[in-house]
Amino acid sequence: MEKILVLDFGGQYNQLIARRVRDHHIYAEILPYTTPIEAIRAANYKGIIFTGGPNSVFDMESPHYDPAILDIGVPILGICYGCQLIAWMRRGEVKTAPVSEYGKIDLTVCGDSPLFDGVPKDSVVWMSHTDYIATPPVGFSVVATTENCPCAAMQNPAEGIYAVQFHPEVTHSAYGDKMLENFLYKVCHCKGDWIMDSFIEDTVAALRRQIGDKQVILGLSGGVDSSVAAGLLSRAVGKQLVCVFVDQGLMRKDEGDFVEQTFTKLFDMQFVRVNCGDVFLKKLKGVCDPEQKRKIISEEFYKVFWDEIKRRAAGDAFFAQGSIYPDRIESGKGASGAKAGSAVIKTHHNMGSIPSDIAFLGVIEPLRDLFKDEVRTVGEKLGLPHELVWRQPFPGPGLGVRIVGEITAEKIRILQNADFVLRDEMAKNGYEKQLSQFFAVFTGAKAVGVMGDHRTYENVIALRAVTTDDFMTADWARIPYDILAAVSNRITNEVDGVNRVVYDITSKPPGTVEWE
Ligand code: XMP
Repeated sequence: MEKILVLDFGGQYNQLIARRVRDHHIYAEILPYTTPIEAIRAANYKGIIFTGGPNSVFDMESPHYDPAILDIGVPILGICYGCQLIAWMRRGEVKTAPVSEYGKIDLTVCGDSPLFDGVPKDSVVWMSHTDYIATPPVGFSVVATTENCPCAAMQNPAEGIYAVQFHPEVTHSAYGDKMLENFLYKVCHCKGDWIMDSFIEDTVAALRRQIGDKQVILGLSGGVDSSVAAGLLSRAVGKQLVCVFVDQGLMRKDEGDFVEQTFTKLFDMQFVRVNCGDVFLKKLKGVCDPEQKRKIISEEFYKVFWDEIKRRAAGDAFFAQGSIYPDRIESGKGASGAKAGSAVIKTHHNMGSIPSDIAFLGVIEPLRDLFKDEVRTVGEKLGLPHELVWRQPFPGPGLGVRIVGEITAEKIRILQNADFVLRDEMAKNGYEKQLSQFFAVFTGAKAVGVMGDHRTYENVIALRAVTTDDFMTADWARIPYDILAAVSNRITNEVDGVNRVVYDITSKPPGTVEWE
């Protein structure tokens, strides 16, 4: 398989670069700039991309790399910091720019370059830099400029080295994707063999070889990743797959039944549902502190989950989980070590570490090389229901972090019903795809109201809806008033125990997406 290396110098767009490369059907992997050059040589990459980074090449504590990388005979593309690094390694002149550029900037192509095949002479690119290349190194020629950047792109075609000061990977660079495509196909001469159909075939065959006639146990949460992993494993080994689904009673309305039906009807496997809502409620009785609630839910979840698995594994089974590629990078294997490395990304709820008293034949992660949207493509190709494949993120502690204060069966019922109305109205109005996440919250507040001639004193439900790229920051969504009105009307009419609905207009920061 053809591979491109994205060598990570701590830039915020490193995953995006890899995503873009994969969109062109070439497998890309991200490694930190601390990766030894021998490992890079041995991996036979078709090309290497140096990412941007938050630092200055003048600062010797910034990420640098062995200059011998430029001589290994593999085409290289430097982006932003990566571009300056190439100039610096080859003794060009890098300086603090008299005018730093940020945002959309006009680019003028001034030389022949395979990078710019099919790119007009004048176009817009996305810039974000304070240093610039004042003089390119010997052997390099300038092929594009901007008003304040005398070397916006340079090249040394004889050595296959290209570098751009701007960010071709972001969509604000109008022809950025074309430039990346040119680098991959015209400079690196890739053919494009990373296709999801062949991924499924190859993975299924490899899983069959690895698992043989043994059992494989998967923790199924009903989320996208574990569901797609279940689909792949089911295709590979059918009934040898045991999926354990812990229903802690904190899922959305009817969700547990939906998951059960999907996997028992559509797929060949052994499906084990552990209903333990009552146990969770007992443990959570009287607990109001958000952190303590999270801790109890998580501990209890693992306890139930591993107890169930312990009864089944008996040392003679594989353990599978739905971890995906960003989970690996986020856990510090990407930009780790980079001075002022890229922002810390939230680590998500996963299966935790395997208890020491359970032995498995091995751990299988069939999605470990995929990005989220690739996982979704695989899910659709495997025939998983659309609503499962395109499901919004749902937190591990479930409705537990959407009920402020003590959790009771009654509050869960109210919240499930209110949340159902919200989802129903959003779907009816075709609005759900426009938002990253939306849900109802049981606020714990009570309000006075009037119904007929009677005074009421009932619960306040909040609606929360956000748009975001990465959930690190988020904006509250401007849902049309008509939809909000319909939701409010229906919740106060249809859900017993609610007499008031409010809309949360807090961005993140200072708020978080969830209320607890
Ligand atoms: P916050 O509330 O931190 O949420 O702004 C950001 C995103 O993360 C989800 N979230 C969680 N996911 N376990 C999870 O798997 C958790 O404990 C958890 N807390 C929040 C949240 O739904 C949102 O998508």
